Amino acid sequence: MAAPIPKTWTVLDLLRWTTQHFTERGVETPRLDAECLLAHALGCDRLRLYVDYDRPVDESERTRFRELVRERAQARVPVALLVGAREFWSLPLRVTRDVLVPRPDTETLVAAALDAFPDREAELDVLDVGTGSGAVVLAIAHERPKARCTATDISPAALAVAAENATRLGLADRVCFAEGSLFEPVAGRSFDLVVSNPPYVAERDAAALAPELAHEPRTALFAGHDGTDVLRAFAAQVRDVLKPDAAVLVELDPAQAQAVAAWFAAAGMTGIVTPRDMAGRPRVVAARRRE
Ligand SMILES: C[S@@+](CC[C@H](N)C(=O)[O-])C[C@H]1O[C@@H](n2cnc3c(N)ncnc32)[C@H](O)[C@@H]1O
Repeated sequence: MAAPIPKTWTVLDLLRWTTQHFTERGVETPRLDAECLLAHALGCDRLRLYVDYDRPVDESERTRFRELVRERAQARVPVALLVGAREFWSLPLRVTRDVLVPRPDTETLVAAALDAFPDREAELDVLDVGTGSGAVVLAIAHERPKARCTATDISPAALAVAAENATRLGLADRVCFAEGSLFEPVAGRSFDLVVSNPPYVAERDAAALAPELAHEPRTALFAGHDGTDVLRAFAAQVRDVLKPDAAVLVELDPAQAQAVAAWFAAAGMTGIVTPRDMAGRPRVVAARRRE
């Protein structure tokens, strides 16, 4: 049951009411979502809400907030898409319905890629396949200021978002973007580091997925019946774009790690390891090109 409606709505009243409403609707992080959406409707940051608990919220602000709450609770639109932004690797990224909302698990991919080349000053040629919002390549470019990066995607709309993020973060001079499938756009070139977070969700699992995923592009999520179509093609082709001793790292569903490691070995990779995510699951397969 929702709390009784007060006469004047303050920030705290709205947070309490909305948190309860989201809880009843099965939203996973009700308080956090309420805070993010209210901060967005009021044009302030989340911490400001704590200072302004007693601030009355006027009718036009409440109308804006009500619409966001309705979209979150009923249509199950992810908060990042409602506010148009998501932080990844502490970098503020713009996100739209044309890209996957970057996930915390993908920071495992970035951390493992940086571990493979620990020298901050390394002059690396880097390729990110399936860049989406640009999250992975922009994090790497930010951490390795002498890296020259290329990022590809089959979606021109996603590439436009990634290019905008590169510009906003001041990284556009070191990251270029190219449209096409897998390694097509970089044929004949080779790299020191190749990373990818490709689509890897199994189509057979689609009905059981969180309703939020319906708002993200299908091509960013699904890859055939068991989710391995893109991973399999990636593993078969990646050797051709690797310099000698180059590193390749790919994100996947933990249940796919063993199969992908075997495909990498069959394709002539060595030093195969499976870095784990924060929950201790093998989230990445990493390898080097064998001579
Ligand atoms: C899981 S999303 C990852 C986005 C981003 N790298 C991230 O980690 O947030 C996968 C991305 O791969 C792209 N994609 C799907 N199939 C592809 C293919 N065959 N070649 C290149 N990109 C592909 C999708 O358009 C999508 O942007």
